[in-house]
Amino acid sequence: MAKKEISSAVIKRLPRYYRYLGELLEEGIDRISSNELSERMRVTASQIRQDLNNFGGFGQQGYGYNVRYLHEEIAKILGIDTKHNMIIIGAGNLGLAIAKYANFGKRGFIIKALFDKNPELIGKKVGDIDILDMDMLESFIKENDIEIAALTIPKGDATAIAQEAVSYGVRAIWNFAHTDLRLPEYVTVENVHLSDSLMRLSYNIRWQEKDDING
Ligand code: NAI
Repeated sequence: MAKKEISSAVIKRLPRYYRYLGELLEEGIDRISSNELSERMRVTASQIRQDLNNFGGFGQQGYGYNVRYLHEEIAKILGIDTKHNMIIIGAGNLGLAIAKYANFGKRGFIIKALFDKNPELIGKKVGDIDILDMDMLESFIKENDIEIAALTIPKGDATAIAQEAVSYGVRAIWNFAHTDLRLPEYVTVENVHLSDSLMRLSYNIRWQEKDDING
């Protein structure tokens, strides 16, 4: 499929569209107007029209959007119409929580194994996913066509471990360690920092209070 030039702002909104369109399909809704979608998603109808026009999902007068078509197109753009094999490095609280969340599999992200350096954890299972020794990282990544590594280890080792995983063939890092990873440019890194999100929440509370006081 040819790569489409889509702005990063639109790409950021795509997972949300995908989720809402998926819910509509589950409800048996095949088409929807931009106004109805706007009410559900609390996004302006013109924003929706602009965004969805990127995918040839042009709403037709009197018809609305074809929900299934848009859902499929967005899945293709996001690359979730194919499966992605992934591993989690760090089988502590966070790594286990991610491994236990079944819905990633439904989106095509298949967790193949967890890795840890703690001998007490190695050999245990989370559901049907094994916790393996770091010694097996190289052979496992190579033999199981692993594309993504989630990093849920402390920041001190994070860059070295990420570099190791990349040298064995991993192409993308889902980074939860609180550090900016130094990796080759071709590697995709998605940083997830819940505390950043909380700080934004705190900012909004602070300024909401001030706005309320100032009328
Ligand atoms: P944890 O201490 O429960 O688990 C960390 C695991 O990583 C342990 O099982 C440990 O044996 C393993 N580990 C440490 N160094 C390793 C290495 N070099 N190779 C392989 N395994 C290694 O910690 P928790 O709560 O699961 O947090 C993990 C990391 O994620 C922490 O650094 C924490 O700061 C960070 N974190 C990030 C969040 C975010 O929003 N980005 C939210 C919560 C935690």
